[in-house]
Amino acid sequence: MTQEVTLIATAAMGLEAIVAKEVRQLGYETRVENSRVLFKAPISAIPRCNLWLRTADRVKVLVGEFEARTFDELFEATKALPWENFISEDGQFPVSGKSHKSKLYSVSDCQAIVKKAIVERLRLKYGIASRMPETGSLYKVEVAILKDVVSLTIDTSGIGLHKRGYRVGQGDAPLKETMAAALIMLTNWRPDETFIDPFCGSGTIPIEAALIGQNIAPGFNREFASENWEFIKEKYWEEAFEEAEDLANYDQKLNIIGSDIDHQMINIAKENALEAGLAELISWKQMQVKDLFIREEKGYLVTNPPYGERLSDKKAVSQLYKDLGTIMLNHPRWSVYILTAFKGFEDQFGRKATKKRKLFNGFIEANYYQYFGQR
Ligand SMILES: C[S@@+](CC[C@H](N)C(=O)[O-])C[C@H]1O[C@@H](n2cnc3c(N)ncnc32)[C@H](O)[C@@H]1O
Repeated sequence: MTQEVTLIATAAMGLEAIVAKEVRQLGYETRVENSRVLFKAPISAIPRCNLWLRTADRVKVLVGEFEARTFDELFEATKALPWENFISEDGQFPVSGKSHKSKLYSVSDCQAIVKKAIVERLRLKYGIASRMPETGSLYKVEVAILKDVVSLTIDTSGIGLHKRGYRVGQGDAPLKETMAAALIMLTNWRPDETFIDPFCGSGTIPIEAALIGQNIAPGFNREFASENWEFIKEKYWEEAFEEAEDLANYDQKLNIIGSDIDHQMINIAKENALEAGLAELISWKQMQVKDLFIREEKGYLVTNPPYGERLSDKKAVSQLYKDLGTIMLNHPRWSVYILTAFKGFEDQFGRKATKKRKLFNGFIEANYYQYFGQR
């Protein structure tokens, strides 16, 4: 069995560089492509990446990549890959697919061919004359074809990595946990500095900040599809969980505050924080933004306010941005980070951002406005 695997950390559009940075911090060299970060790593990287990556959507094993323009080519190249190194004799391996700008465009046919090729390979390798049992662990195979290049992967994560396991409630427009983590990681906030989210909704940004602040692995409270796979030794999972426990800094003091106009949201945020085991670490307050009162001379404000998508909301939302802009004018040493899709945000806020970055909040194209505080 090969001791090194090629892994793919999938990333939302615009977050690739941050995901790559996280992967490098775990000690692996990366190659960045659209929506994915590739890296060669020992098998033990599978538990570590699943546990630690805060901004990636999933971790997949790349079984093989090749060009194919005919069904025969797809079948033969798939069958030539060492599937037995990954999928156990009783493994279940459903195949999903996608195809873009390629000769092989019928996704259902490609899925059926890949399935058949893997079955043939495994029956041969495991000496099975009849049907594969498919009663054991789940290995979700994906055939992704882009410009005639086929990538065959197996998903190691299971449900997406944004599901940390703490969200028991949410509002109408919750931010994905991976995006919230990315917003924080794009700042220079350090855990000993004050951190505020005045539109906190269900609390995603303050909760992710607390996890980062105490260096708690975001996957610590959940399970992963590959936890029972035979080719990943149990000790790799044990070591990864032990490493996460060792590196967590539960003594780190934090000053993180989440507030929102809606008291129901504050209740949900509190429940989520409790579920994450962070109840004592974050202060929650029901408050409208214009009542925001800042005591500390410097700190970080990171937030995802309403965007005012409906025409009728635009005026109210403009006023919120004006209110916040006026308050923050009195706090020049604070750094302010705002994710919004509102066109003309800077005019309402009253200042041009130091830096602006295009990000997608789901399918909504937004800008991340960054105002650096005076040193
Ligand atoms: C886009 S949501 C934030 C979602 C949040 N990031 C999450 O993950 O759940 C915007 C939030 O702003 C709150 N809000 C709207 N007007 C407000 C105001 N004037 N002051 C404070 N919060 C307000 C809403 O109640 C809503 O929870």
